[in-house]
Amino acid sequence: MQTALSAQHVRIDLGVRSYPIAIGAGLIDNPQTWAGLPPASAALIVTNTTVGPLYAQRLQAALQAHYQAVHCVTLPDGEAYKTWQTLHLIFDALLQNGCDRKTVLFALGGGVVGDMAGYAAASYMRGVPFVQVPTTLLAQVDSSVGGKTGINHPLGKNMMGAFYQPERVVCDLDALKTLPERELSAGLAEVIKYGPIADMVFLHWIEENLDALRAREPEALAHAVKRSCEIKAGVVGQDEREGGLRAILNFGHTFGHAIEAGLGYGQWLHGEAVGCGMVMAAELSHRLGLIDTALVQRLRALVQRAGLPVTGPRLAEQDNAGRYLALMRVDKKAEGGEIRFVVMDGPGQAALRAAPDALVREVIDACSVQ
Ligand code: NAD
Ligand code: GLY
Repeated sequence: MQTALSAQHVRIDLGVRSYPIAIGAGLIDNPQTWAGLPPASAALIVTNTTVGPLYAQRLQAALQAHYQAVHCVTLPDGEAYKTWQTLHLIFDALLQNGCDRKTVLFALGGGVVGDMAGYAAASYMRGVPFVQVPTTLLAQVDSSVGGKTGINHPLGKNMMGAFYQPERVVCDLDALKTLPERELSAGLAEVIKYGPIADMVFLHWIEENLDALRAREPEALAHAVKRSCEIKAGVVGQDEREGGLRAILNFGHTFGHAIEAGLGYGQWLHGEAVGCGMVMAAELSHRLGLIDTALVQRLRALVQRAGLPVTGPRLAEQDNAGRYLALMRVDKKAEGGEIRFVVMDGPGQAALRAAPDALVREVIDACSVQ
């Protein structure tokens, strides 16, 4: 009989670049999980100083059934290390180990490791296969899926990168057992995101099951990861390279990226900034006349219950709103210096809109520390 924790699969449909997302318990240790990948003599596990000691040996043991050599490179941990310098550690490991263009990279970690390993895979010898093995909730529900890879620049988040799809994504729910509480909350921000932009039934389910999610009940986590991946797969399947629709997945991110860059990467977690950014984006949607205030309150209450901040930090002593605006102009969705926000265009619907600076200033003043 199929239980909630038997491996479940979501497929991301991108023609020749299609791939499966496996979701279940005990997947890392099972050599079967790794069968059927492109043939290669070597694999390189990319991980970090926190996740490596927890899971790298186990992954290495499982992969040895498929590769003659399984190398491992351990990066420093943290958003502050999502840089060119750290990326080079991956290239160093590939070259020092004589890795050829068939070598398969395995990104074992959260979104930071996944984004960097993916970018390295996209560029090493002009492209080698890679597999995402996300170990944070955020990475399982969002960053490991859809092929966005890259690194930060001090002036803007994720400013260099490539669209490059993995061969598969393996979400081992057991890995979430060791995740710190604060990181679990950060991941919940990206789970919550899918409700207001795409699925109000899912939003209601999250409201009902938030305590179970925070208590890491396996069935609740399995459903949250699966439904999130289904929604993301549906969006990416229609708009892989963000010609339009895919931008809705950035709900809350324009404000959020300003918070991350403004405070310095790593001060607020990405998910924390997105949680607060969603409240700001909902408030903007309300002030644009798109949703009623009850929906803003509903989202604010849920974000708060998830253990996330709902008030933005002060980013400048003088003209705080001006500082937010300046940082938001660096956003990749901006066009000709005009910021474009993902707004709620009714319950469960999102749209990309410009907004007058004066209105955005009002939102920032109302939603951040004064
Ligand atoms: P992260 O990668 O920094 O991981 C969070 C922390 O948890 C780190 O300290 C990590 O070492 C630790 N950790 C990871 N797994 C663990 C485990 N199982 N047990 C114990 N500790 C564990 O952060 P994140 O929230 O996973 O990802 C955020 C990053 O993802 C940001 O850089 C963001 O820009 C990026 N992102 C990318 C996309 C995309 O589509 N590519 C989407 C969303 C976010
Ligand atoms: N996390 C936004 C995207 O994948 O497009």
